[in-house]
Amino acid sequence: MTSASGHAFAPNYALAVDSAQSGPASAQAQFPTRRMRRLRRTPALRRLVAATALSPSDLVAPLFVREGIDEPVPIGSLPGHFQHTLDSLVAEAKHVASLDIPAVVLFGVPASKDAEGSPAWDPDGIVQIALRQLRSTLSDEVVLICDLCLDEYTDHGHCGVLAADGTVDNDATLERYGRVALAQAEAGADVVAPSGMMDGQVAAIRAALDGAGHADVAVLAYAAKYASALYGPFRDAVDVSIAGGGDRRGYQQDPRNRREALAEVALDVAEGADMVMVKPALAYLDVLYAVARRAPVPVAAYHVSGEYAMVKAAADRGWVDGDAVLMEHLIAIKRAGADAVLSYAAVEAARLLAG
Ligand code: PBG
Repeated sequence: MTSASGHAFAPNYALAVDSAQSGPASAQAQFPTRRMRRLRRTPALRRLVAATALSPSDLVAPLFVREGIDEPVPIGSLPGHFQHTLDSLVAEAKHVASLDIPAVVLFGVPASKDAEGSPAWDPDGIVQIALRQLRSTLSDEVVLICDLCLDEYTDHGHCGVLAADGTVDNDATLERYGRVALAQAEAGADVVAPSGMMDGQVAAIRAALDGAGHADVAVLAYAAKYASALYGPFRDAVDVSIAGGGDRRGYQQDPRNRREALAEVALDVAEGADMVMVKPALAYLDVLYAVARRAPVPVAAYHVSGEYAMVKAAADRGWVDGDAVLMEHLIAIKRAGADAVLSYAAVEAARLLAG
């Protein structure tokens, strides 16, 4: 099977590596003519042939703002992260911008919750106040993405309002999402990011925004969001627990399925999503890869709280080199096809990239 010419060229090489079915590229030169190590010999050679690059411009930094506190509160399970006061939030957003990270994604922790999650659309709700302050201090320096969901604001912890039987009422929730989108747009969000996995949420939000003169506000759809145990530290960060030990499997995707992720993305794009997201990232790189190959819009991936916390915990014990593992993970997410990566490692990665 060896090709002795040394100039053998496999025209289908790109297809061959992309196709799980294909065998070895038989037209390739073989050892000892072909030596893969030649291009790995020096750092400059490796740089020349590197096919994936990570830059601060690829990153989005998640930030939490909590109502009614005077000092930032450290989030134990997300080392380096805080529930911010309004002041410390603005300072951290400035820091993010100074590292050339183009965007933040904002989550609110309200002082009180109710069955409907009404603080989510209150013009004086914590996220709306925070958006106005960020917009007035930072102008357009950093893209303000706002997570759009009800779970931080409902007393039962679900992402929508409940029907009489205790299930999440999809269509009744859409109307609330429209209100939240308007409140966030009016407070200065550039991008709203619905994360609740209600059917029709992108269309409902787009219609609400356009109907109120916010045609410029973009929608980043959490399109393929799985019911994952990797969100654990995030729920600590936003003080959310689901009533009665419940879960989100009735609306978030089943980790065993990939095809439905493509259907979710197609629906969200058809409903007007400007960007789509796959979440979590690392445990779903196959999904990300499949989505990135097909989506006609930019694709984001959420390197979620559990994915970050596991590396931090192992590094803390001296079991892995935390910086190196985080960078390898971020590169893996980009290599799989993400155009933007939401990550709790955004700030440290940008620092490491700056040298
Ligand atoms: C829902 C939301 C969640 C995350 C982002 N938006 C939690 C959930 O669906 O339970 C998780 C993010 C993370 O784990 O980093 N508002």
